[in-house]
Amino acid sequence: MDENEEKLLRLVALQNAQAVLLARDRAEHELIATNEALERKTAELAEQRESFRVTLASIGDAVITTDTQAKITFLNPVAEAMTGWKSDEAIGQPLEKVFNIINEQTRQPAPNPVSRVLREGVVVGLANHTALIGRDGKETAIDDSAAPIRAETGKISGVVMVFHDVTEQRKAENALRQSNQLLSEVRDELEKRVQERTTELETANESLRDLSARLLHLQDEERRRLARELHDSVGQILAAIGMNIAVVQSQSHKLDSFGARAVSENAQLVDQVSREIRTISHLLHPPLLEVAGLVSALRWYVDGFSERSKIKVDLEVPADFGRLPNDAELAIFRIVQECLTNVHRHSGSATAAILIRQEDGQLTVQVRDSGKGLPSKKQRELIESNRGGVGFGGMRERLRQLGGALEIQSEGEGTVVSVTLNVQSAPTDG
Ligand SMILES: Nc1ncnc2c1ncn2[C@@H]1O[C@H](COP(=O)(O)OP(=O)(O)OP(=O)(O)O)[C@@H](O)[C@H]1O
Ligand SMILES: [Mg+2]
Repeated sequence: MDENEEKLLRLVALQNAQAVLLARDRAEHELIATNEALERKTAELAEQRESFRVTLASIGDAVITTDTQAKITFLNPVAEAMTGWKSDEAIGQPLEKVFNIINEQTRQPAPNPVSRVLREGVVVGLANHTALIGRDGKETAIDDSAAPIRAETGKISGVVMVFHDVTEQRKAENALRQSNQLLSEVRDELEKRVQERTTELETANESLRDLSARLLHLQDEERRRLARELHDSVGQILAAIGMNIAVVQSQSHKLDSFGARAVSENAQLVDQVSREIRTISHLLHPPLLEVAGLVSALRWYVDGFSERSKIKVDLEVPADFGRLPNDAELAIFRIVQECLTNVHRHSGSATAAILIRQEDGQLTVQVRDSGKGLPSKKQRELIESNRGGVGFGGMRERLRQLGGALEIQSEGEGTVVSVTLNVQSAPTDG
């Protein structure tokens, strides 16, 4: 090898060595830069971690995190206070050991939410009525949820559980539930009492109705008895007196004129008393009602009434009007009688009209006058309540027993009292 060749070789070796050194320098620089970046990243991460830790440590809720084995990795101070476990003791422990939960009502262990999060990868809320039993046995009502912690890849790297003390809220809920319960008991009791009172009232009403029905019936009976007594005893005695007076009258030529006039006056008086007793007796209980029926009894009554009161009364009845059951005939007779008495006593009317119609088993009776009328307030009272005289009360009662209805119409002038009643015509017996 000559000298030149040697120089050339050394130059090449030098150049190679320089290139290697350069490459090493570059590699060293790159390494340093990478190291610096790594350190920066680590510091950043540490900072982030610290900031998360501080955040979790300072939030008002209790926070526990676990790894994928459900072993505790973090516990904030609120969680420490509630579980009674210090962070350094708790970390690494299985969650169940530290986070011991039961169902407040059944006292059975409650399902651990972390296991479900790990199994299903979903956010899980705690079951209702969950209570945490602290290390010292202290019980705290809690409420909240657990959620998976996911790495950037989406893989679950642990679970974070957040819970808080709901003792006060639950107390309030319980108090509310209790007062609701109490309220509903009171309401039930009240309803029961109202029901009892209503039943009592209904019973009382029922017996009152029975009583008034019986009273009306007794009144009818009493009138019938009185009518018969008057007719049969007083009437007969008067008839006997009349006959005796007739005997004396036939001998009146034996008397002086004074005596003869007295006898003749007596004969007239006895005649008059007889007629009045007869009228009273018939008004008390019209004998025609049973014998000849409603229409005849009404005709007789209306004639007498018109004569006595000087009120002109029209009676309009269908020509083919037959017989009705006895109680219906008596009720209608008494109602018309009461209405006409009212016309005479209260209306000041000079006329009255009675209209009777019968259609498809429904009977309508109207008594109309052209008098001073009845204010609508009073009409309502007379129809609905028990106010007013015995008159309307009696009409209502009679109709109630027969399932009929009463109506009063009066606008301005005059009054119409209408009665409707479902009746089957009674078979005419003879
Ligand atoms: N045709 C009428 N025109 C005007 N007012 C009437 C008429 N009928 C009834 N009234 C009024 O209605 C009231 C109630 O009548 P109701 O027959 O019930 O009692 P009453 O006639 O006063 O007493 P009673 O118990 O003797 O019948 C009467 O007091 C009267 O004011
Ligand atoms: Mg009356």
